[in-house]
Amino acid sequence: MAMDTKIEIIKDCLIDAKKLRIAGEIIKEGGLVAFPTETVYGLGADALNADASKKIYEAKGRPCDNPLIVHIAEFSDLEKISGNVPPAARKLSDAFWPGPLTIIIEKNEKVPYETTGGMNTVAVRMPDHPIALALIRESGGYIAAPSANTSGRPSPTLAEHVAEDMHGKIPMILDGGAVGIGIESTIVDLTEEIPMILRPGYITQDMLEKVIGEVRMDPGIIASDSLRKPKAPGMKYKHYAPKADLVLIDGEEGRVIEKINELIAAAISEDKRVGVICTDESRSGYQAGQVISIGARNDEDAIAQHLYKILREFDDMEVDLIYSESFATPRMGQAIMNRLLKAAGHQVITV
Ligand code: TXA
Ligand code: MG
Repeated sequence: MAMDTKIEIIKDCLIDAKKLRIAGEIIKEGGLVAFPTETVYGLGADALNADASKKIYEAKGRPCDNPLIVHIAEFSDLEKISGNVPPAARKLSDAFWPGPLTIIIEKNEKVPYETTGGMNTVAVRMPDHPIALALIRESGGYIAAPSANTSGRPSPTLAEHVAEDMHGKIPMILDGGAVGIGIESTIVDLTEEIPMILRPGYITQDMLEKVIGEVRMDPGIIASDSLRKPKAPGMKYKHYAPKADLVLIDGEEGRVIEKINELIAAAISEDKRVGVICTDESRSGYQAGQVISIGARNDEDAIAQHLYKILREFDDMEVDLIYSESFATPRMGQAIMNRLLKAAGHQVITV
């Protein structure tokens, strides 16, 4: 049954305090509100209310074994939902919260299994966004929120993306403009003997190791085969997927451009619509197809910010094929390539 979806623009949390209070009421009553964070837009519900969490899975069409992240606004709230907060959690919180880092710890009985997808652990983060923090406080302290896209679509980086996927399904979207980072938070599992990164993001392995010592990368997210399963249930799905078939072309820039031009010509000769993801530097190397630059090659913040938006633009253009250059930038490269490889179903041509 379709419901009215109200889109509220929030310019200033003080000025718009009333809108935030109404949004908080919706969540306290067990409803859903989409809201901006610094990474991507989230689809929020009361994390301690089993029925509210269930609504998230319905609205997204999300598999029920895929756990949600619980968003908090105070470190002390962590101790209320876990009987075992390891010292590393405090250190990471001091270094990176509020910020794009999610930690996994043991949960207690306050957190329903509907929120954790049946797991005994819970993923928690404190987002670095004034609207998100204000909403969490208005809602009682704990908001379960996955990215606010339909399951399988690219995560939303604008309120308009949320509206595309959630219109008629949720009562309210808080529009805080474009997000800052553009890819989801780093997830680190503190229940492992050596902390393990389950999803790479803006906070890198190096940054974590400087604070808590040795950190490992989940072997299941590096492998391109299906032999090793990633530990985060959500990382096993073909996620972030555009409607078109996406292929990455990797190698020296000149040869990549040459190869992509060959592929464009072949696609056009078969009457296929083709899209290209390139950089400002390589843009002039392409004369055919729908070509979109993701930003300057060494501007990794821009690359992360634009990735999901471009995948959605190609969905709207209804291209059949997308060829993308690869972007192994120094700091966030691993996170960016992780998302791109998943969107491509690991189809890579090396030239
Ligand atoms: O940046 C973000 O983290 C965004 C914003 C909205 O905060 N949220 C987000 O949520 O990306 P979602 O649901 O799209 O991704 C959560 C990931 C999934 O891959 C899920 O499987 C994993 O976290 N996860 C959650 N709880 C877990 C747990 N207890 N153990 C292992 N993986 C877990
Ligand atoms: Mg997601």
